[in-house]
Amino acid sequence: MLCREHYRLTLRVRGWSDAAPGQFVQISRASAMRGDGAIVEPVAGMPLLPRAFSVGGLRVAGDGHEIDVIYRVVGVATGWMQSLAPGEHATVLGPLGTPFPIDPAKSTALLVIGGVGLPPLLYLAQALQHASVRTVALLGAQRSDLVPLSMIAEASPASDAACAVRCAHEFAALDVPMVISTDDGSLGYKGTVVAALQALTRAQPVTADETVVYTCGPERMMRATAAWCHDAGITCWVCMERPMACGLGTCQSCIVTVRSDAYPSGRRYALCCSEGPVFAAEDVLWDERCA
Ligand SMILES: Cc1cc2nc3c(=O)[nH]c(=O)nc-3n(C[C@H](O)[C@H](O)[C@H](O)COP(=O)(O)OP(=O)(O)OC[C@H]3O[C@@H](n4cnc5c(N)ncnc54)[C@H](O)[C@@H]3O)c2cc1C
Ligand code: FES
Repeated sequence: MLCREHYRLTLRVRGWSDAAPGQFVQISRASAMRGDGAIVEPVAGMPLLPRAFSVGGLRVAGDGHEIDVIYRVVGVATGWMQSLAPGEHATVLGPLGTPFPIDPAKSTALLVIGGVGLPPLLYLAQALQHASVRTVALLGAQRSDLVPLSMIAEASPASDAACAVRCAHEFAALDVPMVISTDDGSLGYKGTVVAALQALTRAQPVTADETVVYTCGPERMMRATAAWCHDAGITCWVCMERPMACGLGTCQSCIVTVRSDAYPSGRRYALCCSEGPVFAAEDVLWDERCA
């Protein structure tokens, strides 16, 4: 358990290729097996469709890989994941989707995270460190008990956003300083993560040439981050979320509206699962309800 509603699940998989940050897996229990290999009948009320989860970390382990999934319990599938005991089996399909691009010309990366948008950006922080990109993480949550990180007691986060500090084990282990914000001020900066981004970059200006922003979280937050990046001329990559049935580009259930010169309307529908979930923020036409 990472905080009141967030949990980490480690999956051991065999025969997997590598997975890059931004990619995801589809997890289901429809064909869950017991430890002895017997198929467990789907339980009444359990969804037949798998659920998508970002790869939050990946390690080689024995003759396979270990994948970290960080999730918030919101419904029946995540409730089942919370109940899994070590050694139980699940069906895992992946890696799926397109990863975050890493541009070697950008020497600074800002990760703007809203709550359970953490997993793909935590994994990305690892890749950015390997690529020697200076990285700062900003994570916003409603309250301190919804921050899905292990805090370092002796380095509590600054109450203003002017200075990023190594305050959470997960990012400190990657040598990534961070700013934490909460809506009610119960931890770190009081305000939204986008307000924290503005305060940090006012105190420590960044240049558009050298900087890239990656964001994942609630759509309203990503839209505000994209608007700030647009005004600052900074490249921004967003990790979109849509309910997904197949995850493979077949069912057409996961559309994201994007700009397109190929159509008279100037827009087209992209599939979040196969063209995304990572999109250039400049291409996304946001749902007006997210203003
Ligand atoms: C590419 C991708 C990566 C994801 N990564 C993660 C992750 O790392 N960790 C994590 O916790 N979740 C992640 N999600 C979200 C997760 O797949 C959904 O929350 C999933 O529906 C949970 O299943 P459930 O059966 O527990 O809840 P459900 O019963 O499916 O849903 C519970 C509630 O959430 C709403 N809901 C479900 N899915 C969505 C959605 N996509 N957008 C808006 N509302 C929705 C439902 O309407 C319902 O009110 C990701 C989704 C995508 C598409
Ligand atoms: S989830 Fe089926 S096409 Fe995207």
